[in-house]
Amino acid sequence: MNEYEQYESDVIIIGAGGAGLRAAVEAQAMGLRTAVVCKSLLGKAHTVMAEGGMAAAMGNVYPEDNWKVHFRDTMRGGKLLNNYRMAELHAREAPDRVRELEAWGALFDRTEDGLILQRDFGGHRYARLAHVGDRTGLELIRTMQQKAVADGMEVFMELKVLRLLHDADGNVSGLVGYWRPTGKFVVIKAKAVVLATGGVGKSWMYTSNSWESTGDGHAMALWAGADLIDMECVQFHPTGMVWPLSVRGILVTEGVRGDGGVLRNSEGTRFMFDYVPDMFRTETADSEDEADKWYDDHTAGRRPPELLPRDEVARSINSEVKAGRGSPHGGVFLDIATRRTPEDIRRRLPSMYHQFKELAGVDITAEAMEVGPTCHYIMGGVRVDADSTAATVPGLFAAGEVAGGMHGANRLGGNSLSDLLVFGRRAGIGAAEYAQGRAGDVTLDEGQIQQAIDAAVAPFQRESGENPYDIQQDLQGTMQSLVGIIRTGSELEEALGKIEVLEERASNLSVKGGTTYNPGWNLATDLPSMLTVSRCTAMGALNRKESRGGQTRDDFPKADPEMGKVNFVERIADPSTAPTGACGTPSVRSITSQPEPVPVMPDDLRALLEEAL
Ligand code: FUM
Repeated sequence: MNEYEQYESDVIIIGAGGAGLRAAVEAQAMGLRTAVVCKSLLGKAHTVMAEGGMAAAMGNVYPEDNWKVHFRDTMRGGKLLNNYRMAELHAREAPDRVRELEAWGALFDRTEDGLILQRDFGGHRYARLAHVGDRTGLELIRTMQQKAVADGMEVFMELKVLRLLHDADGNVSGLVGYWRPTGKFVVIKAKAVVLATGGVGKSWMYTSNSWESTGDGHAMALWAGADLIDMECVQFHPTGMVWPLSVRGILVTEGVRGDGGVLRNSEGTRFMFDYVPDMFRTETADSEDEADKWYDDHTAGRRPPELLPRDEVARSINSEVKAGRGSPHGGVFLDIATRRTPEDIRRRLPSMYHQFKELAGVDITAEAMEVGPTCHYIMGGVRVDADSTAATVPGLFAAGEVAGGMHGANRLGGNSLSDLLVFGRRAGIGAAEYAQGRAGDVTLDEGQIQQAIDAAVAPFQRESGENPYDIQQDLQGTMQSLVGIIRTGSELEEALGKIEVLEERASNLSVKGGTTYNPGWNLATDLPSMLTVSRCTAMGALNRKESRGGQTRDDFPKADPEMGKVNFVERIADPSTAPTGACGTPSVRSITSQPEPVPVMPDDLRALLEEAL
């Protein structure tokens, strides 16, 4: 029998990014004992990688802006695969969430009148992103962390969660994990659990995500019997660093293009004019002169093509590089120096200035940056009820990147930070109300706990076996080359075959040393999530025989109206065959991926999509 420490709370939130912290504030305000568990140090979350701002129709720069236009932009950006109710709630509530953040101490850049300044981003009709330079995500985290801690949130830092626990009736009742510094096991009992674990980017080779983003929340929800949706919809942010190789994938904020940065190929051509899809043609400029006018006055010209939604820009860059018109290191050129003064660039984009100076020896006030697509965000995630964020298993809630539906097939930049605040708050309320209403004692199943711990320590008991780093590298190579920006049916089938082999190999991991700060072991316990999530993405991508948003099929290059009516839902037919949350034998072969109807939008909302707003 393995030993473990035991704790208890009313609401446990897994993940301390923007959504987790916002949920914690709300659950505490409702009088519940609330704890946040994070895999890393408090304050270090992928939220900081949403640099350019949070989208909210506050109308501070363009008074014409309102929630209806924001709703329309979000739905169009998501190619109508979105859960319309989530998009509606988000557009309606985002301005209040930003003002509330300001009241809690967040700093923002200002208009001349002292209002919160809003900048342009792709796919947004109006300048809508509340920001502070290019460090907005960091400011959000700093503010929320201070507020949540001051309000009395308990924190379990550097705690890796292995699996969710449930009682005999299937209600989620807590979690089992281990302290990363010591390897000591921990069980936390709770009446409700909120997943706010972020994304999955570490399964790809080039990503803006840091080491934490291994899809733990997505995988644990699935293993617990919850539905995932839209897992094929993965966002490749158009602009990541491509050089030096050691920093390839680090984000170059869309704020650079929002502030007037232009993309050029090796021939000096502003190539985005050649890639404007029909859907955006009437509102996109068709000459440099016209595009330039728009920056000065949004009513005087049409939008520059660099501000098309991210999926369009990433694919265009990919095509230019493939056609042999890329930059020396396999990207394209992004130039802000021509439009803005050095002082302006250092003030508005301080992190970008330092990032390129320190990491690449490039002065962006004088030279163009080399940039290319980087895996940034997954639109797919845990299927939730829009209003309460409840997942499809009782006692489980999800908010932020780990939740699916809000962004459809493609997320607009800046909609992530506002999503975290809107649905983080709703998750806090949903979980707190569930916990308040939960009858009887919460019970734990010792068998589930011991199974998870046995699986976690198994790699120490094998004299020889697979090295976790080899499997991680092979998985990242597979996902990058076969489940990347452009996909084909045969490549996806090949990917699924390779993932199956990797799952087999992962059941024979061997790790040396002890449990104290052992990164090899830590990775071994992340691999089951990474493999499970990768399988779901490849399955959904194989089934969605069309191109839509973050899913581009070379063999089905057009959007198919029939496919636009369905979400692909991944679930485990029999959760008892699911992996134990560690490196045991993850028999996830019973995962199915089935089409189910997208919720039908009511007429009043549908009319907004057609109105010229
Ligand atoms: O480009 C960026 O600053 C990222 C923002 C986002 O992902 O929302």
